[in-house]
Amino acid sequence: MSANNEEMVVTPWEVRGKIDYEKLTREFGTQPLTPELLERIQKLTGTLHPQLERRIFFSHRDLDWILQRYEAGEKFILYTGRGPSGPVHIGHIIPWIFTKYLQDKFGATLYFQMTDDEKFLYHDDFNLSEPKKWAYENSLDIIALGFDPKKTKIIMDTKNMGVMYDLAIQIAKRMTYSTVKAVFGFQESTNIGMLFYPAVQAVPAFLESFLTGKNVPCLIPAAIDQDPYWRVTRDVAPKLGFYKPAQIHCRFVPGLGRGGKMSASMPETSVFTVDNPDVAEKKIMSAFTGGRSTVEEQRRMGANPDICSVYSYDYFLFMDQKEIENLRYNCMAGNIMCGECKRTLAERVKKFLVEHQERREKAKDQFEKFLFDPKDVQSTI
Ligand code: TYM
Repeated sequence: MSANNEEMVVTPWEVRGKIDYEKLTREFGTQPLTPELLERIQKLTGTLHPQLERRIFFSHRDLDWILQRYEAGEKFILYTGRGPSGPVHIGHIIPWIFTKYLQDKFGATLYFQMTDDEKFLYHDDFNLSEPKKWAYENSLDIIALGFDPKKTKIIMDTKNMGVMYDLAIQIAKRMTYSTVKAVFGFQESTNIGMLFYPAVQAVPAFLESFLTGKNVPCLIPAAIDQDPYWRVTRDVAPKLGFYKPAQIHCRFVPGLGRGGKMSASMPETSVFTVDNPDVAEKKIMSAFTGGRSTVEEQRRMGANPDICSVYSYDYFLFMDQKEIENLRYNCMAGNIMCGECKRTLAERVKKFLVEHQERREKAKDQFEKFLFDPKDVQSTI
């Protein structure tokens, strides 16, 4: 069965089937991003990020509330993260690029959580050194994206648990087994580390408030697969006297195959930030497109950008508004063939990878500067 005909499944650990974002918004109980909200963001930031213009970020919780507090002079923190189980792919960096825009525009401190504990607990075959290694490797990607070292704190769960633990157990005490079982679908065979883990992912949303004793609003940019964590986190917030964290959710960058999100478990249809550029080119040249079976047919009937993985890449990351509109028109009119489109994308991806990998190398010297140090937060009390 092709991914597009499969039943939609969206959990923090699995995304498959054809994603119906409207249905997700309804089922998860989130709000669509309205033109009014976008206008407000534009007013505050001066520019609307393409990911907002294109509704790559499409849904939220309490974004209006957090903007209102900001307009009234209250700063917020940003919180996002990564489960370090392998190399970073181009899908992962979508919410991070957007987070950097928010950090730049709102001058916000970012807490970035590396959940080496989550990935150790989730993957039966992992020993602890595996996710710890990836936590370091993936941090280089974060740093390479240009976050402000003075305003970015990378939390390594296993390293920072000392300072997180007091808060984690307060959260855990207010989350019941029946709630996490219902929200995450845990089974009798699920290890008890996984049952506790949702409390750990909630911690960074409250950490600054907890350490400073002053309630600080928090905005979480991430793809919508992480939403179950925020539901249980929001439930607990008022019980501990914290603000409920707000969220802004993005769509998934699809893989280069037919349907389905880009996923590290399918390396042949994912472009990793550490891929050799020539390998990435090969993956793109074999990508699934919305093309017709013959050139003649395509010239006559045009192709379908809406199912094309190459078009998706251009849309998510590699083309500006004018270019994407032109591409869409020429694709549907049969003026452009898939080979040409793939070559253009491959060139852009290769350029991106070369530049990113250079920055990633340099990030090795900066790594220490980005690590979360509770003293930095406590000294602002
Ligand atoms: P992880 O490592 O699965 O994903 C990291 C971030 O990438 C997003 N994402 C995608 N975005 C667009 N297209 C895709 N194909 C795609 N695949 C993944 C995820 O939504 C996420 O934002 N448990 C988390 C780690 C974590 C976290 C957080 C994430 C801890 N705290 C706070 C977001 C916010 C995880 O394993 O993410």
